[in-house]
Amino acid sequence: MREVAIIGAGMTRFGELWNQSLRQMFVEAAAGALNDAGADRVDSMYVGCMSGGQFVGQEHLGPLMADQLGMTGVAATHVESACASGGVALRLALMEVASGMSDLALAVGVEKMTDGADVTNVLATAADQELEVYYGVTFPGLYAMIARAHMARYGTTEEDLAWVAVKNHRHGAKNDKAQFRREVTPEQVMSSAMVAEPLRLLHCSPVSDGAAAVLLCPLDQAKRYTDRPVKVVASGLATDSMALADRKDPAFLDSVQRSAERAYAMAGLGPRDIQVAEVHDCFAIAEICCIEGLGFVERGRGGPAAREGYTALGGCVPVNTSGGLKSKGHPVGATGVAQAIEIFRQLRGEAGERQVENARIGLTQNMGGSGASSVVHIFQGV
Ligand code: COA
Repeated sequence: MREVAIIGAGMTRFGELWNQSLRQMFVEAAAGALNDAGADRVDSMYVGCMSGGQFVGQEHLGPLMADQLGMTGVAATHVESACASGGVALRLALMEVASGMSDLALAVGVEKMTDGADVTNVLATAADQELEVYYGVTFPGLYAMIARAHMARYGTTEEDLAWVAVKNHRHGAKNDKAQFRREVTPEQVMSSAMVAEPLRLLHCSPVSDGAAAVLLCPLDQAKRYTDRPVKVVASGLATDSMALADRKDPAFLDSVQRSAERAYAMAGLGPRDIQVAEVHDCFAIAEICCIEGLGFVERGRGGPAAREGYTALGGCVPVNTSGGLKSKGHPVGATGVAQAIEIFRQLRGEAGERQVENARIGLTQNMGGSGASSVVHIFQGV
């Protein structure tokens, strides 16, 4: 396999983007990545999108987006893995370049959620229809059950949950691409409207529009495009049962642990080597479970990590310096690629006020559904 690097990145702001359609957001992000690298062609592209069909009535996104970018004829594939669609698109672009099939591959994530679709029901298509959705459960409901299980088993508190949101809003306030650029207090989180007990409004990621793109090429060609490439050193993908009730421990995300173990093995690294990470905090409890699955803290010890500053900027392993899904926003198919862009910026020393000093190794973890799929990437500054 060839070594692969990211050489350019582009993204829209995340939020309610009333003036931009799905395709316009795609073009802004993709053209941004090409311009960033000074490239004027690609050999292939992967478009991560969870549900263009149900959100805006548009499928067959591979050829549509290639055409919109003025690249009709290029190899282009739509990738779906629920909220992990963007991360899996990145993995396929990585494999495309590593295998020698393409020299320039674009990974783009895009989602348009605010155009009037029944968002809760569209998102629920990523849960088990027969065993879960039929009985009325929603995604906030599924993560509420994970939270309750974690609280019962490990003593995790409502305050622990609140601090994940406080930390991520604090980080997101420093990110000009973020949907919510305002800080919140623990008291505001704990008195916000109840969504699915014990999860409140400010424990949830929002409904968002947005797109993000990265351009990849073989590491030994990267200096043609940039003097600061970022190497993609590993990718791990894993799955778990769709239905929460089928898992032996609903308070632990096996797919996160498995995808991380695969990525660590491929990189020859471990959790202690990671200096900055973007993880899938679609609900506050998800970040707590993910940092346990990734091995940043011991199993059951994720609760206090944000409150104690361990995962904050300036802490031992800063998590979600971009603001995470909570504050930056969560246009579901775009999220995995946007996570990679934050790490790309961090490892190039371009993260401004949210820069982690001397960061050389970073990680992203992007999850589908309530953890039925998880994809982990590890990156290294060159
Ligand atoms: N965090 C912070 N503020 C939020 C927010 C969030 N997650 N969601 C909405 N808001 C704000 C809005 O900006 C708005 O503020 P304003 O009154 O100052 O304009 C206010 O709260 C009400 O917004 P509204 O859109 O009416 O909220 P809602 O009740 O329809 O939706 C949720 C709130 C939490 C139910 C919705 O954001 C949601 O479903 N999130 C989860 C998405 C999800 O499941 N993603 C997939 C994960 S697997």
